[in-house]
Amino acid sequence: MKNLLIVANWKENKTKNEAMDWFGKFKGEEVSLENKEIVVCPSYTLLAKAKYLISENNLEIKIGAQDVSRFEKGAYTGEVSATQIKEFADYVIIGHSERRKNFAEDDEMLEKKVSESTSFSLIPIFCVSSSNMEIPQGVTIVAYEPIEAIGTGNPDTPENANFVAKEIKNSNQQVLQVLYGGSVTAANVNSFTKMENIDGVLVGGASLDASTFLEITKNA
Ligand code: PGA
Repeated sequence: MKNLLIVANWKENKTKNEAMDWFGKFKGEEVSLENKEIVVCPSYTLLAKAKYLISENNLEIKIGAQDVSRFEKGAYTGEVSATQIKEFADYVIIGHSERRKNFAEDDEMLEKKVSESTSFSLIPIFCVSSSNMEIPQGVTIVAYEPIEAIGTGNPDTPENANFVAKEIKNSNQQVLQVLYGGSVTAANVNSFTKMENIDGVLVGGASLDASTFLEITKNA
């Protein structure tokens, strides 16, 4: 049986209290985590709180950041380095289409972010879409996210996502897991995760509500 990675991408959402509510809902919930790993990616401001809440409540949840600086350290106001993130997280999302579009992140920058991350043992979850298929060295987890499927309620078909996932693995031997992202819901998650080449999901909007996300992890 394959191992599934279920990743929540909160994007620019949630305050400390909202995060506390979210993690609180996981406490006491029966989630069978056999062959499933849950990763939550909050804003930088919540990384320390998330780490505390997870250990306090004995939750089997890993933490990821939503981005990382491409510079190791120094005079880069506003940036957060891979070593700083590693104090709280094991994963980092790199190259999300929202960052490529709104912050003009290009392949060269993303390659640096990947190498910074892997140098400090942070695992990159590298996002690609049909128009951005470059995958840097060192990436073992890719998230295939068609731009037109993100936040629109119009997911890709499981068959096409599976086809693309297979292509990604065939042309990048280093890639061990391919996730699907884009309008994943509790109702459609299993149609993706049951596909041979899809090893998990990256969930945006539907991850913000803890009960909905719990449902997704159960149904996956
Ligand atoms: P969505 O976002 O689930 O809201 O479509 C997915 C993503 O952007 O990672």
